[in-house]
Amino acid sequence: VSLKPYNTFGFDVVAKYFTTVFHVSDLIKLYQNEEMKAERKLILGGGSNLLLLNDWDGLVIKNGILGIEKTFEDQNEVVLKVGGGVVWHQLVMHTVGLNLGGIENLSLIPGTTGAAPMQNIGAYGVEIKDVFVSLEALNIETLETEIFYLNDCKFGYRESVFKHEGKGKYFILNVSFRFQKNPEFKTSYGAIQDTLTESGVTELSVKAISEAVIAIRKSKLPDPAEIGNSGSFFKNPEIPTAQYNKIALEYPAMPNYPISEGVVKIPAGWLIEQAGWKGKRFGEVGVHDKQALVLVNYGKGKGIEIKQLAEKVQASVFEKFGIEIMPEVNFVS
Ligand code: EPU
Repeated sequence: VSLKPYNTFGFDVVAKYFTTVFHVSDLIKLYQNEEMKAERKLILGGGSNLLLLNDWDGLVIKNGILGIEKTFEDQNEVVLKVGGGVVWHQLVMHTVGLNLGGIENLSLIPGTTGAAPMQNIGAYGVEIKDVFVSLEALNIETLETEIFYLNDCKFGYRESVFKHEGKGKYFILNVSFRFQKNPEFKTSYGAIQDTLTESGVTELSVKAISEAVIAIRKSKLPDPAEIGNSGSFFKNPEIPTAQYNKIALEYPAMPNYPISEGVVKIPAGWLIEQAGWKGKRFGEVGVHDKQALVLVNYGKGKGIEIKQLAEKVQASVFEKFGIEIMPEVNFVS
């Protein structure tokens, strides 16, 4: 089976076996299946955070668990329990339609709901940990369902327990989020303000913010349906303030965001642009021309070419600034 439609980079690699699971019982049967026991298994959501380096000599399991169910409601809040296979942006559009606040800033992020907690997806001042209640995941060793509450997930910037101790051990079945009926809007990210003003919005609403975010993303980020990519390829590095102060002497224009006492976050996109990579194309792969944090596949590129490009970009940023940038995307081989 070609995985081309199942990864947003659009790499044409092949999986020996491929299946979609629609219910936890399908999943348990699959893990108990004698023929499949020996096969390596790759769990797939929207394939939007993957760098497939070669063919997959095993089974690919796509999360197809659907459904959006209201499990709690009072005067102020609604909790929705959402199937792991629900497309993230469809969930956002559903909540926008209901005028429920919480994830409007996370409009148009590619991928599925089940994959969202893996790396605590975030954009424009909101992360899913801000609205997260709990999730249910199948432990693929014991085949029992476990529940994870906020603290169990150990969310950080693009981090969770599922990238560390829990890596490869869980299949996320559903996620519950809390939504507000009278939300406080998060408009601190400058471009949201500018976009709202430009489009003449005078009254904030869930819908207006969602539309602003969609406009911003469309202007900067390539549509995977047109140019293969997986959003930000690198994480924004966090460095000690002392190191920042030293580098800032030479590069006073360097954007920076204080994170905590003694830690500053630097946008990797700026570092990569300054190192001269923005818009550079090398055959079938390259660095996006409107956001240097995004690596792109123009069509016939291969995972290994993206990996090589990423390594060159990392080395050159390190050489120029002495800052190490690390991939956000998961490498699969
Ligand atoms: N910048 C440049 N050149 C570039 C790109 C960015 O100079 O080519 C500078 C900008 O001028 C700005 C700063 O870097 O001062 C930040 O840029 P931007 O607002 O575009 O955000 P980012 O830090 O590059 C992060 C997330 C995005 C998210 C945006 C908005 C990470 C790794 N990426 O990007 O997430 O949409 O903030 O909140 O944290 C993703 O994870 O796939 C993703 C797109």
